[in-house]
Amino acid sequence: MPHYLHLGVPVGGPPIPCLERFFDLMTKSGSIRKTASPTFQRLKLMCPVLFRFVRYESSLDEIGLLDLYELADRVASLPGVIIECGSYRLGSAILLARHNERRGRIRPIFALDSFAGFRRDELDRVRGAGLTEVSDDSFTLTSFEYVVAKLRKLKLADTIFPVEGFFEDTLPAVCDREVVLAFVDCDLEDSMMFCAETIWPRLASGGIMAFDDYTSRAFLGVKPIVDAFVADNLENIANHGLMRRLYYVEKH
Ligand SMILES: C[S@@+](CC[C@H](N)C(=O)[O-])C[C@H]1O[C@@H](n2cnc3c(N)ncnc32)[C@H](O)[C@@H]1O
Repeated sequence: MPHYLHLGVPVGGPPIPCLERFFDLMTKSGSIRKTASPTFQRLKLMCPVLFRFVRYESSLDEIGLLDLYELADRVASLPGVIIECGSYRLGSAILLARHNERRGRIRPIFALDSFAGFRRDELDRVRGAGLTEVSDDSFTLTSFEYVVAKLRKLKLADTIFPVEGFFEDTLPAVCDREVVLAFVDCDLEDSMMFCAETIWPRLASGGIMAFDDYTSRAFLGVKPIVDAFVADNLENIANHGLMRRLYYVEKH
């Protein structure tokens, strides 16, 4: 996949190579941190529509995105919605919607997040257990207003539905419909298990649940939780395994 798909493209037009090279150079030189500084991000959050270029801002790399696209293709013939648990700035949800568009498919994507970072009590517990070292402000440089403005600008407000709040409060209501693909990307074990167990009964036969960070060194609790989920549900699992980056679990 061309690199610009990950870095972002200008809204409503073809990619501009010099802009993509600029992002590339910034990333490689480390200066990208300047544009990711809290002040810059707050400015962007306050007035996203003033920025001509909306970056897709996915946390997945190209390999992870390819895995996600492959899974979306595998469930293409099934009816149902897509749910993403942990969406941050909606980067992956937007790229997935674009992938579906390219394939002539329109499928609602529900993108759930606090849009304010992790649950503090859960993060403290996981850090206390030595399973991560991420800081309190991880994934806080976003907001519901920001992603709504971004979707409007990208003309995706009818396809992607951001749902704000902690999963415990939001996911049960979203799960009142059939789900064909669930992407669980929320890093911390209790939240992951809650999402997986809540969605599993609503996952269509042949539907797929995918997890990020199975091999991550930043979140050491992910692998044991995915393994436990698979072990608990083996009799209803048709296939499961690690792709290039994502771990998938396909329901019978
Ligand atoms: C790795 S980021 C998601 C990245 C996104 N999937 C992407 O590919 O761009 C993890 C997200 O999970 C969210 N999150 C973690 N635990 C949560 C919870 N219990 N309720 C709501 N959001 C949560 C965080 O706010 C954070 O934005």
